[in-house]
Amino acid sequence: MSESQAYIEANKEKFLKELFDLLRIPSISTDSTKKSEIHQAANFLIHQLNELDLSRVELFDTPGNPIVYGEHCPYDDRPTVLVYGHYDVQPSDPDDLWDTPPFEPTIKDGLIYARGSSDDKGQAFTHIKALESFVKSGNKIPVNVKVILEGEEEIGSPNLVPFIESHKEMLECDMVLISDTAMFGKDQPSITYGLRGLAYMEVEVVGPNRDLHSGVYGGAVENPLNVLCEMIAKLKDEDGVIQIPGFYDSVIPLTEADREAMAALPFDEEAYKKSLDIDAVHGEKGYTTLERASARPTLDVNGIWGGYQGEGAKTVLPSKAGAKISMRLVPDQNPKEIAQLFKKYFESLAPDTVKVKVEEHHGGFASVTDLDFYGLKAGAKAFEEIYDKEVLFSREGGSIPIVADFKRVLGVESILMGFGLTSNAIHSPNENFSLEDFYRGIKTSAKFFEILPDFKE
Ligand code: BES
Ligand code: MN
Ligand code: MN
Repeated sequence: MSESQAYIEANKEKFLKELFDLLRIPSISTDSTKKSEIHQAANFLIHQLNELDLSRVELFDTPGNPIVYGEHCPYDDRPTVLVYGHYDVQPSDPDDLWDTPPFEPTIKDGLIYARGSSDDKGQAFTHIKALESFVKSGNKIPVNVKVILEGEEEIGSPNLVPFIESHKEMLECDMVLISDTAMFGKDQPSITYGLRGLAYMEVEVVGPNRDLHSGVYGGAVENPLNVLCEMIAKLKDEDGVIQIPGFYDSVIPLTEADREAMAALPFDEEAYKKSLDIDAVHGEKGYTTLERASARPTLDVNGIWGGYQGEGAKTVLPSKAGAKISMRLVPDQNPKEIAQLFKKYFESLAPDTVKVKVEEHHGGFASVTDLDFYGLKAGAKAFEEIYDKEVLFSREGGSIPIVADFKRVLGVESILMGFGLTSNAIHSPNENFSLEDFYRGIKTSAKFFEILPDFKE
């Protein structure tokens, strides 16, 4: 065993204690009252990087949340890895559905329960501890490293995109290493080579100038909630095909090889249904569940409101109705273009009895990593050494838009070495992260840094 691996084995408790300290900070980026917690988390990470004998550690202010940065690049002939992660988390609500407090990390049955345990504090922390395992065991970090940790991933990285554009030289690297995805299954390591993009819309349908008595006016005046439902129903047909004109124009179709590779993955649809308490799956006709959930575009209502929601029955014809609608995108769909197409189509569906407003929220491009990239092979080898299991390559349906930006701006591939599980309940109550995967993640990351120079082409 290398000294770095031995250090990890000997310091598990210390690592866990430090992760708990980070998890206790409610660094929720969507909550504007949590600015001080955001800074607290960023400073905690700066302190962590300061322990690593790097040549540069810096907290960059942005118009939003700060960016944590560190680097150490002593080698001329070894690859440079840019480690990316995010220290912001989703809100914890609904809090009453948590079995333990979201910001008081608790271990139960081998799982660390806390908001951010998997997405992404726990996963991002594995790399910091891997770097520590070299330095504190009296060794050198075996590759050039740069570390960038942002506090706005969950709100669409509005300030990181301009930051990487204006710090291209500083961030120059051979690859990006990210742990912010899930493995294919428990004890089944996988490298994610595709992520979906996102276009996120908010719509409002406005009818009469005030809420009306549904007996006095109902039947004679348009009901915006009815209209909204009818409009939403026209966004997809009964085969699950999205009806927005032009929506599929730039979709790169799945090749036979893509489809065969996905079909060969050990996916258990029965277990999938069981884990969700559903009797049947659903989706676009002609595609498998894995394809639908990771490699085909989607359109979903995320929230809908309007009218009376309180106790009992209030007879009312609401003056307004609204909805939040997201579209997951695949290569080469452009989120801005898709948002425009959505707006145009949605507006065209409106009867002249209502006014419609369509607003665009943050989005991002999908990404696919080149499977021949040497960094991916090193990642797979590192996983295999620690998990003692052959690595699978899969696509995932979630979005990390900055991956496409890293490719566009820095010209590099990202290695998505996730240590999470789909059962981690990210963004949900009772988010968790396996203790064992936290430790194996640290070891896998350290192993990756150790073997990467040998893979360099
Ligand atoms: N880590 C997730 C993305 C993810 C989760 C990818 C699971 C693959 C598997 C990330 O923090 C996230 O939540 N992304 C958002 C998009 C972002 C623009 C707010 C998402 O996918 O909804
Ligand atoms: Mn994440
Ligand atoms: Mn997330």
